[in-house]
Amino acid sequence: MTPADPLHPPSAAVSNPSAKLWGGRFAEGTDALVEAFSESVSFDQRLWRQDIAGSTAHARMLGKVGVLTPADVDAIVGGLSQIRGEIERGEFRWQLALEDVHMNIESRLTALIGDAGKRLHTARSRNDQVATDLRLYVRDAIDELADLLTALGDVLLDLAEREADTIMPGFTHLQIAQPVTFGHHMLAWREQTLRDRARLLDARKRANVLPLGSAALAGTVYPIDRHFVAEQLGFDAVSENSLDAVSDRDFAIEFVSACTLTMIHLSRWSEELILWCTPMFGFVKLPDRFCTGSSIMPQKKNPDVPELVRGKTGRVVGDLNALLVLMKGQPLAYNRDNQEDKPPLFDAHDTVSASLRLFAAMLPNVTVERATCRAAAFKGYSTATDLADYLVKRGLPFRDAHHAVGAAVGHAVARGVDLSELSLDELRGFSSLIDADVFDVLTLDGSVNGRNHWGGTAPAQVRAAIARARAGARAAR
Ligand code: ARG
Repeated sequence: MTPADPLHPPSAAVSNPSAKLWGGRFAEGTDALVEAFSESVSFDQRLWRQDIAGSTAHARMLGKVGVLTPADVDAIVGGLSQIRGEIERGEFRWQLALEDVHMNIESRLTALIGDAGKRLHTARSRNDQVATDLRLYVRDAIDELADLLTALGDVLLDLAEREADTIMPGFTHLQIAQPVTFGHHMLAWREQTLRDRARLLDARKRANVLPLGSAALAGTVYPIDRHFVAEQLGFDAVSENSLDAVSDRDFAIEFVSACTLTMIHLSRWSEELILWCTPMFGFVKLPDRFCTGSSIMPQKKNPDVPELVRGKTGRVVGDLNALLVLMKGQPLAYNRDNQEDKPPLFDAHDTVSASLRLFAAMLPNVTVERATCRAAAFKGYSTATDLADYLVKRGLPFRDAHHAVGAAVGHAVARGVDLSELSLDELRGFSSLIDADVFDVLTLDGSVNGRNHWGGTAPAQVRAAIARARAGARAAR
């Protein structure tokens, strides 16, 4: 037997052209390779709820304007509702040969109710249908992620309150910089979640516009009432231009872009947690049930959740990239390329949703090792700026104060002690302006309590910020 030639496989089975909803002008069926290559139902079946909602609204509108009889509308609405039940119960038979979610549902409808089912597609195209489905999907996804971000923000507020007095080193360049409170650090994370949520809700405004009625690209000859459809589906507006409406995927890009930034934030938090739970830092302990072990090293407890979130951030950045490149060469209006928008969109949504849920579940159970955090802040000369500020308050220009304190730090490093462990005489060797009260500012508590202004790290400010956040949340409800 001769080996198979990979470039010239035996002709693939061809389906029957009249089996296709669009098969009228075709003399032969689709090549099996093309069928497998071009189907989207394997991934877009996920849009079934939106597709049924869109079709129901479209049918009602066609009834309202007299294009469909009341009997047809009733049959369509009833049939779609039955299909919804079949899908929910897992009884629906999805068929690859029917290409996508739209034609799977439409063929089942026709099988159930006959000719009325064939009238549903009057005055629309799959181009405006899929754009509508996808906008409804993105709107739902935004609402879900916005709620998750609020929940995660609340978790951070609780953690900030619990650790409002916990002193840890603050870093710049990952070198110990100044003491901060753990609560302040958690509030910094929460600020990121607030922006993430605001970005999603801003994107929602542009997503929540109805494309249906644009038909294939130019609109339709039927006397449609697009505002009626928009109202039924909860859209805020009706698209202005049919060519733009069927081809635009900006809303998908904006959504995935917002997802990407959210993941970037979670990835940064992950990196911090991973560092913090190494014995070299030892700032936190992650709960066992959020970690895994090593198959060879019995002592290992690995921070897999933050590592995976950091890793999955790469996927979502890739999803955004896929959408951007997908759009860059497309002329108006709809092109089949757009079918490829769904896998990255769904993947970004799933990944962000799961990551937010995991962080919200894990963070309340993180143990903060307060003594270790404090000791690390104490070790790193983190109150050197406080000493400089002390000298400034006594009249020394800041640059001179900076220089004098630098010399004092060099001396303390050589001796292997903290600034607060130098004697008054030693300290006075660097500036005669120093008195015994210097030790108040050199303590960690003196340092954080001194930063007592709106946005500062003092425990009192952390508590004030938490109170403002909670009052704001109450007002927003
Ligand atoms: N499955 C297609 C998509 O996701 C639906 C629209 C197809 N339109 C067409 N003219 N082939 O984009």
